[in-house]
Amino acid sequence: MNAFSDLLQQDGPFTKEQLTAMIGATGAHQTLLHQKANELAVKHCGNEVFLRGLIEFSNKCRKDCYYCGIRKSNRHTKRYDLADETILQTALYAHENNLGSIVLQAGERNDPLFVDRMDALLQAIKKATNGELGITLSLGEQSRDTYQRWFNSGAHRYLLRIETSHRDLYRQLHPDDERHDFEARIEALRAIKETGYQTGSGIMIGLPGQRVDHLADDLLFLKEMDVDMVGMGPYIVHEQTPLADQADGLWPLSQRFSMSLNMIAALRLLMPDINIAASTALQAIDPMGREKALKTGANIIMPNITPASNRKDYLLYDNKPCTDESADDCLSCLNMRIALTGRKAGLKAWGDSPHYFKKN
Ligand code: 5AD
Ligand code: FES
Repeated sequence: MNAFSDLLQQDGPFTKEQLTAMIGATGAHQTLLHQKANELAVKHCGNEVFLRGLIEFSNKCRKDCYYCGIRKSNRHTKRYDLADETILQTALYAHENNLGSIVLQAGERNDPLFVDRMDALLQAIKKATNGELGITLSLGEQSRDTYQRWFNSGAHRYLLRIETSHRDLYRQLHPDDERHDFEARIEALRAIKETGYQTGSGIMIGLPGQRVDHLADDLLFLKEMDVDMVGMGPYIVHEQTPLADQADGLWPLSQRFSMSLNMIAALRLLMPDINIAASTALQAIDPMGREKALKTGANIIMPNITPASNRKDYLLYDNKPCTDESADDCLSCLNMRIALTGRKAGLKAWGDSPHYFKKN
């Protein structure tokens, strides 16, 4: 016990072995770890939990990740692509309901028409909200030129999960082709940073073949990349994907959940001033999953404000929560949930990552 509590009192940097001990913590050690992470989150990022309205505007995707429910080869997915006007209205809804920022997320597409369309859409949203609404993009790998154009048009944060920082594991989770190149993904992450975006990345926890020491390496990777934001959560099987065949050796859901909270907490110790999201996938396992993450180091929550009729088609994994609720239900239940954690919802503010401004 003493060695572990001494470890938590350190300011870092932490070694791989120390991080592995944190990720595997149970019982009294785990409680101590979570308390420390919560303390650091409030100290460095404040008592407010910032909200980002998540708009999953299309499930069309050019890629074929083996774990993902909206992968190109999934013939069972009904594909949708919201009209620009609908996306704009949803953004205005967020603005009117005091959400300081939105996340525009979709399957990956990089054809010139799509790039132009996003460019125009960003400008339209900025204009309609007097520049007040913050915009984060989560649109996969793009060229440097595209990242720059979208940045110039008003996006200021970009999320691109590395999914796993372990090269061999990455290969096992993706087809072996130029669309799914590990080095290219890291290069894209660098391009995002160099363009000037607040840069977010993250990984999945409990993937087939993944070990605790891989997860420790993932944390060190995020530190090394010096990211400003992280979203990470448990891997959850989607039955219509190739990886569903490898469900036998998986960690039980409860363990994937517990490890996810430990990962969030350990990351908070490692990078005290970044934004860490309480991922939606946590809620697919435990109805209070995101709230628990807010008590173990997370400070961001992303309510889904996608128009309800399309939510059931954006199924990245099975049992995805809130797929049959309207946006209103989600927002009001969320405010209540945040209050239950003893924190306050940060309204109207962009809620930028303190880390970004310390570096720049
Ligand atoms: N389980 C958990 N998370 C998943 N994602 C995709 N498929 C799954 C799954 N089966 C995550 C990926 C992606 C994000 C948008 O959703 O990490 O980056
Ligand atoms: Fe769409 Fe992986 S399946 S990005």
